[in-house]
Amino acid sequence: MTVTETQGVPHPGEITAWGDDVDVAELVCGGVREITHDVKTFWFEPVGPQVFHFDPGQFITLHLDVDGQRLQRSYTISSPPTRPHRLAITVKRKPGGLVSNWLHDHLSVGDRVSAAPPLGAFSMVHHPARKYLFLSAGSGITPLISMTRTLVDLGSDVDVVFVHSAHSPADIIFRPELLGLPTQFPTVNVVQVCSQDSPGQEWWGWKGRLTREALREIAPDLHDREVFVCGPDGYMATVREILGELEFDLAHHHEETFTFEALPQAAFADTDPVDVGSIGADVPAGADAGTFTISMAKSGRTFPCAPDEFILDAAFRAGMSPPSSCSQGMCGTCKTVLLTGEVDMQHNGGIRPREIAAGKVLICCSRPLGDVAIDA
Ligand code: FES
Repeated sequence: MTVTETQGVPHPGEITAWGDDVDVAELVCGGVREITHDVKTFWFEPVGPQVFHFDPGQFITLHLDVDGQRLQRSYTISSPPTRPHRLAITVKRKPGGLVSNWLHDHLSVGDRVSAAPPLGAFSMVHHPARKYLFLSAGSGITPLISMTRTLVDLGSDVDVVFVHSAHSPADIIFRPELLGLPTQFPTVNVVQVCSQDSPGQEWWGWKGRLTREALREIAPDLHDREVFVCGPDGYMATVREILGELEFDLAHHHEETFTFEALPQAAFADTDPVDVGSIGADVPAGADAGTFTISMAKSGRTFPCAPDEFILDAAFRAGMSPPSSCSQGMCGTCKTVLLTGEVDMQHNGGIRPREIAAGKVLICCSRPLGDVAIDA
């Protein structure tokens, strides 16, 4: 083979993991597919010779210019890491959903977007088991389909019961795939639940809402399973309640605890930390016995923070509004550099080990262990 013939084909040794050593990298939209009447899957490819490396269940954060605003939104990856050359997000159009609707209306093949690399701790890889129960509702299916596709691609014989709830048959995301899974992969059992028929389309499967009785029937060996749940808050609360009634050990229950898109618009502004008016003028260090002083190097502001208080909460209390969204150590939006001092950080996958090694912290889940200065 001549050199000319191999032009454009990277040597395997040149292929790196996308986003491994940067905070934000470019992606090219490689495909758009309509999944239901209000859900689309968007495929992305790296710009260079790279592959995607992530845990099934993780999300990426898109940085987009929408109507003159620079916005960030996080979307769970619906494709599996076992297909590493393309990455998919599956997005539901929502009333008032600024970014999801923009994606539906504007993002086309060939468009470039910026994105932060995959983050998140909601993944079966952290909870290996022989039996799983996946419970999803609506677009909460995305992390669980990524986990299921991963197991299937790996030829795993792990036992999966996948219960997906939708409003009506027309709203079932990935319906043909869900229908086909059990015939191709006998260890995967899929149950679809609809609360009502679609116009002109009667639903013959499980009807109504997920109940204790239904769950007991669908998964009689529930207590042997590792349970992953993703969906709207009300759905997840119901599942918690049912599991409690069935005396399920919640140490084996994992849920994606919030919906990025539902969070307030201001929370995603990709700007430097902004003070809100003159509320909470600087508080002198040591103003309150038993508190530590947090200094923000860029703005020159300081504020007190109790040892049992998260730095972000203390900043809000002092009238500041650093960038943040989930407040649960998941999304990475509040990430900043710890310049001096020490913190106790209990995150949920919103920061990577190399970032921690580089001195970065998530202030929403960090309590000060003394006076602290941050690069904000
Ligand atoms: S606000 Fe999401 S990680 Fe801190």
